[in-house]
Amino acid sequence: MTIPVSTPSSATSPSALTALAAIVAEFNANRPLETSIAVALDTLCRSLDASECSLWLHTADGLVRTWASGDALAQEAAVDAALLNGSVSHGLRAVRVTAGDRRVGALVLQMARPLQPEEDRLLGAVANLLAPELAHAERSRQLEVEVAARTVEIDRERRFTEKIIDSLPTGLYVIDREYRIQAWNRKRETGMQGVSRDEAIGRTIFDILHRQPFEMLRREFDEVFATGRIQEYQMESSAGDDARTYRITKIPMRLGDSAVTHVITIGEDVTDWREGQQRYAQAEKLAAIGTLAAGVMHEINNPLATIAACGDGLAYRLEDLQKKGAEVNKDLFDYVEIIDNEVLRCKQIVDQLLDFSRPKQLAKSKVDLNEVVEKTLFLMKHHAGFKTMTLVKELDAALPVVPLGNAEQLVQVLMALMINATDATDGHGTITVRTRRGPSNTDGAIVEVADAGHGIARAELSKIFEPFYTTKPPGRGTGLGLAICYGIVQDHRGRIEVDSVIGKGSTFRVLLPIIEW
Ligand SMILES: Nc1ncnc2c1ncn2[C@@H]1O[C@H](COP(=O)(O)OP(=O)(O)OP(=O)(O)O)[C@@H](O)[C@H]1O
Ligand SMILES: [Mg+2]
Repeated sequence: MTIPVSTPSSATSPSALTALAAIVAEFNANRPLETSIAVALDTLCRSLDASECSLWLHTADGLVRTWASGDALAQEAAVDAALLNGSVSHGLRAVRVTAGDRRVGALVLQMARPLQPEEDRLLGAVANLLAPELAHAERSRQLEVEVAARTVEIDRERRFTEKIIDSLPTGLYVIDREYRIQAWNRKRETGMQGVSRDEAIGRTIFDILHRQPFEMLRREFDEVFATGRIQEYQMESSAGDDARTYRITKIPMRLGDSAVTHVITIGEDVTDWREGQQRYAQAEKLAAIGTLAAGVMHEINNPLATIAACGDGLAYRLEDLQKKGAEVNKDLFDYVEIIDNEVLRCKQIVDQLLDFSRPKQLAKSKVDLNEVVEKTLFLMKHHAGFKTMTLVKELDAALPVVPLGNAEQLVQVLMALMINATDATDGHGTITVRTRRGPSNTDGAIVEVADAGHGIARAELSKIFEPFYTTKPPGRGTGLGLAICYGIVQDHRGRIEVDSVIGKGSTFRVLLPIIEW
């Protein structure tokens, strides 16, 4: 780079000593290096009456920087030649500028006349004066370049880390000891309770999560700051109608070696996982009940058979006595009939329960759920309570088939659901039967039976699939309907779900896979 300076006037040429004093004063004045160099060259030019005075700087990275004062700017090749000769060459006088044993540049004069010894010494003195300044400037420049490179690197690393935490499917934020938010990831910006990063960063967590009780939140953070241990909580959140469960993990972070300086909080939506766990626990429980019941029922079968045989024996004896003309009280015949009917009822219950615990491995083939619905409705026509119901049918004509199904068993399931819906509305309400495509192959075909009946209390929901759980009066229900539905749907590798609101009604949903396994 060339620094333009004013053309010197030869009339005011100061003596070599005065010029050196002026140059030293200039460098002591702590002005920017560029300015001081320009002043020094200008002073030299005027003092020596040179037509040009330049400074050539060879930087460590191979660049040549020049400053000049005067008419013309010497060429690099001419400067090199002058340095090589060590004396005046092409009218140029060049002096090495060295820092330690390293040559950093050259001070060059374009002169029409030879230099006086005093002037030569001045030139050497100025070169010595410039050397540390230039070396220092060069080091500063190197440092600047290094700092710039490091800044780019740090920036790249920061962006990379930010990308990682933004890509997480879990909410994440970090607070410092003043509870101020220092990091806030993308996931925390989305959703019903999302807050933008710009709004969150720098504010206290209590300002942002103002819906959560202040004391509780503070206690949770303080515990991590004090103990330095990871804490885990579960939290229910109900934004809108959607109740979700979150697993909150608070992790201590230390910037130095000792005290906790920050707390990282991760919020993970575990609603689906928890529902899965609950379903799994329920399935385990039902399986255990099923096995137990199967054992008990097996034991009951034998005495039942004995009672039935004794009943038959009694009936023969009574008929025999009557034939022989003996007076037999009519009550005795009634008793025998009651024994017979009740034994039959017990047998049916035992058979149903055995069905639930060991669903028969019936032949499976492609089943169209819409046809299953139609068949069920045809059979339901003969059910007394169902006749007075209003039926809404919403069948998806494009519903995929269930490849491994048993139509008879699925009709049994839908019948049990429709009878329950009829009972829940006391025979005077609306039942909606709906089929539709599910969200995935494993939940591919869905059939729903919805009623506007009395609904089921939340606390009871987990019990309704248990065998013998019934709220119906004795003789009206055995509590086996849903237990059997559960067994059949499980045998189809499907699921059965229920949504219910007290006073509003219930929806039972059967989800079946549409893939072969
Ligand atoms: N649609 C529904 N609305 C309200 N409650 C229901 C509904 N379906 C089932 N329930 C409740 O679940 C209980 C168990 O149902 P489940 O079908 O297993 O037995 P049940 O209907 O009582 O007797 P069963 O079906 O053996 O004759 C019922 O007694 C009832 O309390
Ligand atoms: Mg039932």
